[in-house]
Amino acid sequence: MTTPYVIGIGNAIMDVIAPTSDASLARLGIEKGIMQLIDRDRAEVLTGAQAAENEKSRLVPGGSVANTLAGLGMMGLRTAFIGRVAGDPLGLSYAEQTEASGTVFVNPPVAGEVLPTSRSIIFVTPDGERSMNTYLGISAELGTDDVNPATFSGADWLFLEGYLFDKDMGKAAFLKAADACHKAGGQAGIALSDPFCVDRHRDGFRRLVAGPMDYVIGNVHEWTSLYQVTDLEEALRLASADCGTVICTRSGEDAILIRGDERVTAPVNRIVPVDATGAGDQFAAGLIYGLATGAPLAVAGRMGCIAAAEVIGHVGARPESDLKTAFRAEGLI
Ligand SMILES: Nc1ncnc2c1ncn2[C@@H]1O[C@H](COP(=O)(O)OP(=O)(O)OP(=O)(O)O)[C@@H](O)[C@H]1O
Ligand SMILES: [Mg+2]
Repeated sequence: MTTPYVIGIGNAIMDVIAPTSDASLARLGIEKGIMQLIDRDRAEVLTGAQAAENEKSRLVPGGSVANTLAGLGMMGLRTAFIGRVAGDPLGLSYAEQTEASGTVFVNPPVAGEVLPTSRSIIFVTPDGERSMNTYLGISAELGTDDVNPATFSGADWLFLEGYLFDKDMGKAAFLKAADACHKAGGQAGIALSDPFCVDRHRDGFRRLVAGPMDYVIGNVHEWTSLYQVTDLEEALRLASADCGTVICTRSGEDAILIRGDERVTAPVNRIVPVDATGAGDQFAAGLIYGLATGAPLAVAGRMGCIAAAEVIGHVGARPESDLKTAFRAEGLI
């Protein structure tokens, strides 16, 4: 079998990890321990403040689908990422680091008068708490011009993130990409990303799930929001009538996977997370690895659970240990 080729489209967000003090947090007026969306002016103030305090804040490329692709790359699959960054230092570093990690960064940083590169400035206080300040910037402006059908030659899998579904131009880009992927003989899927995002665009998401998506991943809140029901089983029944492969993660409880008449669960060995960031993204990586390599549905689900558990076992949103070794240890490969 040739190495499966996975293309992802998502927000390209640089994580700026800045160690800081409680006094500085207070001075900057940052509420501790939460994720706050910030505007361009505030982003500039905080970017400057962290640079003044730190010789070198750590710059780590992030974003939901980008993190999934990083995981898939580490598992040995061929990966390419479509996302928008500006030609500023953060954007150039994002593109360079993505390529260095083995994922093709398809479109070059956008030059000229554009919004700055998206960033999440993460202030880390000595107690380990993370206070995130996210500026959405240029990456949320992804549109059809960013999707070149030629990129999809040889594509086996396409993976999208619900977050980019917030704007009409993102929706149009997804439809164009799914079409190009199908023409190449590949399968297209999405992670619903967030129950509030689903709530804002319910009709559009439903059309997408019932239409071009071959597989869809959501958590309990996202699936029940999509179908506006309180009962998860009812939501999954409606989902599986709409879509070929439906996957529901349930945090510390077994994940549920439904493909046509087949329904399986993937057991989760519950742990206390060190840093809960990125569980869903790495679940997706393990799952897609399994599906792309032809593993049985239950095995693919279990691979997702193993990858997710690895990433919440340490700080940071990308895997640190060799997941294929973990898959092998459980006899999955
Ligand atoms: N406490 C836990 N122990 C072990 N595994 C966990 C735990 N919490 C989550 N996971 C793993 O992560 C997967 C995804 O978790 P969850 O259902 O919370 O997704 P999510 O809400 O999309 O996550 P995220 O916060 O990354 O968006 C689960 O299916 C499970 O495999
Ligand atoms: Mg999630």
